[in-house]
Amino acid sequence: MSNGDALMHARGASRFVDDIPVPGCLHAALFTSPVAKGRIRSLDVSKAASAPGVAAVYVHKDVPGLNQIGHVFKDQPLFAEDAVEYIGQPIALVVADTVRNARKALKLIEAGIEELPPVLNPREAAAKGHLHGKKRVQGHGDPDAAFARCARVFEGRLASGPQEHFYFETQRALAVPGEHDTIKVYASAQSPGAFHRHLAEVLGIPMHKVELDIRRLGGGFGGKESTAVWIAAPALAAFLLKKPVKLVLGRNEDIATTGKRHAYEYDYRLGLDADGRILAYDITLYQHAGACADISTAVLGRSFLHVCGSYRVPNLRVTGLSCRTNIPPNNAFRGFGVPQGTFAIEAALTRAAHELGVEPETLKRRNLLQEGDTLPYGVKLSGVNATRCWEVLDSRTDIAGRRAAVAAYNKSHKDTRKGLAAVPVCFGISFAQTALNQAGALVNIYVDGSVAVSTGAVEMGQGVNAKIRIVAARTLGVPLERVRVETTNTSRVPNASPTSASTGADLNGMAAKYACERLRARLLDFAAGCLKTGAAALDIKDGEVLSAGKPAGLGWEKLVKDAQWARVDLSEHAFYATPDLHYDLEKERGRPFAYYAYGASLTEVTLDCVRGTYVMDSVDVVQDVGESLSPEIDRGQAEGAVVQGMGWAVMEQLRYGPDGRVLTGVNAYKVPDIRFVPRHFSVELLKDSSNPFAVCNSKAVGEPPFVHGLGAYLAVADALRAARPDREPPPLPITPEKAFMHLHGPETGGKRR
Ligand code: MTE
Ligand code: MOS
Repeated sequence: MSNGDALMHARGASRFVDDIPVPGCLHAALFTSPVAKGRIRSLDVSKAASAPGVAAVYVHKDVPGLNQIGHVFKDQPLFAEDAVEYIGQPIALVVADTVRNARKALKLIEAGIEELPPVLNPREAAAKGHLHGKKRVQGHGDPDAAFARCARVFEGRLASGPQEHFYFETQRALAVPGEHDTIKVYASAQSPGAFHRHLAEVLGIPMHKVELDIRRLGGGFGGKESTAVWIAAPALAAFLLKKPVKLVLGRNEDIATTGKRHAYEYDYRLGLDADGRILAYDITLYQHAGACADISTAVLGRSFLHVCGSYRVPNLRVTGLSCRTNIPPNNAFRGFGVPQGTFAIEAALTRAAHELGVEPETLKRRNLLQEGDTLPYGVKLSGVNATRCWEVLDSRTDIAGRRAAVAAYNKSHKDTRKGLAAVPVCFGISFAQTALNQAGALVNIYVDGSVAVSTGAVEMGQGVNAKIRIVAARTLGVPLERVRVETTNTSRVPNASPTSASTGADLNGMAAKYACERLRARLLDFAAGCLKTGAAALDIKDGEVLSAGKPAGLGWEKLVKDAQWARVDLSEHAFYATPDLHYDLEKERGRPFAYYAYGASLTEVTLDCVRGTYVMDSVDVVQDVGESLSPEIDRGQAEGAVVQGMGWAVMEQLRYGPDGRVLTGVNAYKVPDIRFVPRHFSVELLKDSSNPFAVCNSKAVGEPPFVHGLGAYLAVADALRAARPDREPPPLPITPEKAFMHLHGPETGGKRR
């Protein structure tokens, strides 16, 4: 069993923040804005402060340091001062002896808020110039001239919806004060370094007085990467009260007040030549960002770099607007803008195929990226596996045969229709923000031969600790059981980048590998002295020293014990920074990614044309993970990502009211369950793929397969087209309700244009 966590999860033995026993712990609850936009005219917390069990009530004036937790821009106060910008924005914190008393006291807070009209639509925000950051435009080739040469130009509007993270463990943190104004915070958080800094800034103390410790998350999916509210608020209370304080969001509170995947709207023009080759693409992305910038501009940037999907586009214009609206600030979610960027070209190309009367697969295959192609931002590609993934998929599934079978089925059936969709994936790996591509590791070998590895990576179910353990054991040459991966702790590994962008294992695994390589070299030097040979002839394998490949009669335990006694340093820190990354935001050119993860998938569905419901018949995936560090973990990641992507594409629908309130609670938000998983579901890891740009030639897997979920949207849309060729499919997600209305409802916005 390579992943200790998996077994513990299955047994219910894994500990999360709320499981840490703390005697005398107080409980906090947040008072948040009831209106989407307004001015705070008055705020009276006195009744709440004297309510039973209440220890304190804090507002912005009580923050000893900076009342600011903006992640990229300084536009996000911890507690609202005189303005509120979204429903759910924190205004005050109540601390009491029990959760119940804290929540009861919230009702006694009196806030006089003058309501102002909110902006809730991204296009309206764009028209008003309400943007986060600048409008981004990138050009490549000469799109205007190219459109004039196109045989056909397709033009339209598209939209993709938001998605709730639905991590099992809601946002939470526990803060325990120590001596000399120090504080230790246990949190469910993906960004140790950045949250460490936010904590110190809010408390007004140096970072060396703050220790942030993260054992594991009950899921993060990007939703625990940026907003520090739920960590900084209990820390503030613990710091001021000198008592442990915990804040745990309720499920509905979490859904109503935290950020989501960004919804996008799109305007596109896609031009093809007479052979169906893409000549020009013009795409505008309206990102529904919410009230604060959070990391929306970074998400938009990644969409921006992925608008061409897996296709060669010789002439491109892409415009990106991060639209400031009065909803909770949206943030990272698995794929980080790539699914949204890829959706538009997939939908546009599929539509073009239908209007041209060719199979979408044919058009897609014709336009796939090839070795040596240059991406619009100037990267010349090598090691392109787009075609290989597609061919392997084709040989496994016979795409053309399946298309013919679907067409035949649809000829002979009226009440049910089948739909098919092939989706190629090309996903750049690295943080697009070059500075974040760094990681540290601390490896300690103890005198008994056991090894403890600390890195900046956060375990959230993706198995990053299991991978780091494999890398460390392999590099040192000891059995897996010898190695333990420690909690992520800012006192052991400082200034760590977030665990996101699927780079957790790439970066932290590499840092751990470097540290282990140095320890191993030091131990081999020492062993060479003991055995009176050269270190070059020595090796360590399975906990035994080998000399010229044969056991030298020196085991790992003795080697370590003797080395320590001979005063050899058995602890090592190492650092890794991904080489050769750069990006010029002015020119929109550079090399933002170390490499690309490729994939291809085929999805088939059956639509019930009477009821609008559908069944996921089959999904076949081929995913390029390089030389997998752990095929079980990688397959699990791919399966989870695909199903989560399918949920976004055809199931999960979040509703906002006309006042900007999230209307969907836990009882109305439907996420994929085991019955939604395709009847036939196969994930193949591409064989004979290697990757010189990541640890042990592996490739990232956490997010890229999410994009295959688009296949669910495209396949349901395909079936809808068979039933109603007169209508353009509805926007993403196509829920059964939307499918039903599309089949039987009055004409809406889904008209062909
Ligand atoms: N898998 C599980 N089980 N839980 C998660 O929260 N997050 C995903 C992915 N897989 C996640 C997951 C996201 S959004 C990212 S960026 C990567 O894991 C992060 O981990 P990695 O960089 O180690 O792949
Ligand atoms: Mo993942 S969205 O990059 O945390």
